[in-house]
Order: sequence, then C-alpha cells, then structure tokens
Amino acid sequence: MFTPELRTRLLTGLVCLLPLASTGLAAENTPHLGQAVSEDQLQGVDLIVMPDGSGLPPGAGTAAQGRALYAQQCAACHGAQGEGTPGVPALAGGSTTATPPLMTVGSYWPYATTVYDYVRRAMPPTAPKSLSDVEVYQVVAYVLHLNGLITEDFELNRNSLPAVVMPNRDGFVDRSQVQKASP
Ligand code: HEC
Repeated sequence: MFTPELRTRLLTGLVCLLPLASTGLAAENTPHLGQAVSEDQLQGVDLIVMPDGSGLPPGAGTAAQGRALYAQQCAACHGAQGEGTPGVPALAGGSTTATPPLMTVGSYWPYATTVYDYVRRAMPPTAPKSLSDVEVYQVVAYVLHLNGLITEDFELNRNSLPAVVMPNRDGFVDRSQVQKASP
C-alpha cells in the first residue's frame, strides 16, 4: 500500500507537527498573536468628533489665542503661514482645481469639525493627545484663520465650529445616496 517514498513523506509531516503540539498551542487553543489591550491604552480611543459636531468637548478658543501655540507646536513642520515644508502637508491655501491640485484643510476638507478631531487625535505627531481641549480649539481656530475662514476673534466652541462652512463642503459625493437614488 505505502510506497517507501510516501511513507517518508508521511513521517516527515508528522515530525513537523510534533513541535507545534509541544508548544502548548493545541492545549490553549490560541495562536498567541497580538497582545491584550490595557485600560491605559483604551483611554481616549472614543474621542471621536463627527462631522455634525457631536462629540465636541466644552471649551472655546480664538485664532488670536492660538497664534503662539501654532508658532511653538506646529509651524516648524507646517510652515509659519501653514504653507507646509518638504514632506509635511500645507494646511492653508491650495486649490482642488489647480494643476496639480493642492489639497489642504482649506481647499479640500469638507467639515471644520474634522480638523478638531484630527488635531486632537494626532497632532503634534511627536506627542499626540498632549494638547488640552481648549488648546485644540485655539489652534484649530488659527488654522481656519490662516485659510481666511474666520476672523481672529471668532470664538470657536462646540456650537460655532460645526457652523463654519468649508469651501469644499459640496465637493464630495455620498455614494450610498447615489446608489439609493439610481433605479
Ligand atoms: C513633527 C512635525 C509636525 C508637527 C510639529 C505638527 N504636524 Fe501636523 N502633520 C505632520 C505630518 C507629517 C502630517 C501628515 C500626516 C499624514 O498624512 O499621515 C501632518 C498632518 C496634519 C494635518 C492634516 C493635513 C492634511 O491635509 O492631511 C493637520 C490638520 C495638522 N497636521 C495640524 C497640525 C497642528 C495644528 C499642529 C500643531 C499643534 C501640527 N500639525 C504639528 C507633521 C507635523
């Protein structure tokens, strides 16, 4: 029945399986991938601000208040006027219709609330989540001001930020709505 060649193959396969069984994998029934998430790591993962502004924290800030903070914490990478530096995106100016297009917060992002969400979550990249909620309002106000969207003294808060209309607000298509509308 078993040719010598087949027997050798079967034996080799069996020998290969044995070390797996002896590591305890079979006993615990787990591949031992990844690691458990600690309570500390979970802190802040639910800090989500939606386009309509839900999730925005209390507090307020103006561009005038955010100017110094931007200079200290953002300008080295994003440029004094938000013009960007090599490898770091510009935050102000730009145009989606230029050739090539330059997509920035001002020219591209449809919702001002997303700037809050993004900055609070990710900036500065060397110390994400290090800014207080009020500091984020201040520096977001400054970025919106660099784009000419609000005045220096306009107070951003959980009510006024969602009301800031971004220039490219209508530049996106909601695919789910398109599909529903088509016959
Ligand atoms: C050490 C350099 C550095 C610093 C400091 C820094 N950023 Fe950034 N920032 C980046 C890089 C790099 C990206 C692009 C990240 C990516 O696309 O994954 C970015 C992306 C962004 C974006 C999204 C831009 C876009 O159009 O995609 C915003 C908004 C932003 N930063 C705001 C800030 C603000 C506000 C500060 C100051 C509190 C700051 N950043 C500090 C490097 C920096």
